[in-house]
Amino acid sequence: MKDKIKLDKGDITRLDCDCIVNAANETLLGGGGVDGAIHRAAGPGLLEECRGLGGCRTGEAKITKGYDLKAKYVIHTVGPVYSGKVSDEEMLSACYRNSLELAKANGIHSIAFPAISTGVYGYPLEKAVPAAVKTVTGWLEDNKDYDITVIFSCFDDRTYTEYNNVI
Ligand code: AR6
Repeated sequence: MKDKIKLDKGDITRLDCDCIVNAANETLLGGGGVDGAIHRAAGPGLLEECRGLGGCRTGEAKITKGYDLKAKYVIHTVGPVYSGKVSDEEMLSACYRNSLELAKANGIHSIAFPAISTGVYGYPLEKAVPAAVKTVTGWLEDNKDYDITVIFSCFDDRTYTEYNNVI
């Protein structure tokens, strides 16, 4: 199981994997943080395709092509705005699970996730990281026959340390 999970430090847009995940908002029309970085690196074709998707609900995921990225696909998911309610973790877990399901349905064998909701959306890192790792390991366990590598993309040292400790 552990050999299917990797950590990377730095900008997710430079990763050479089948798919990178975007921590988007419900409009899917771009924003700041990792969302802004992905749209800048992918080029205008990404926004064009996103315009046709009709947005995305919190916890759900939608797929597009990767355009100028090395990654062939981008999966856009919308994390919860942190509220301190039980539903936060349910929604955050749904983001990871639905993204992995969509990856499998599209024959994706390597996927990189940013730390969804832990920036602008205010989800505390020490709560979000264990939830992300638990959901991903659970999904990998349930899909043992499917060959996929999951990369947790850590933009800063704090995030990297948190993932490293939990894993
Ligand atoms: N590569 C990897 N991780 C990154 C990058 C990058 N280039 N840039 C930032 N991060 P955030 P959210 C990390 O705020 O909390 C947007 O405006 C960042 O350090 O990007 O889900 C959307 O449009 C943090 O660890 O996403 C939404 O409106 C993590 O990515 C809203 O922000 C998530 O931070 C979503 O907020």
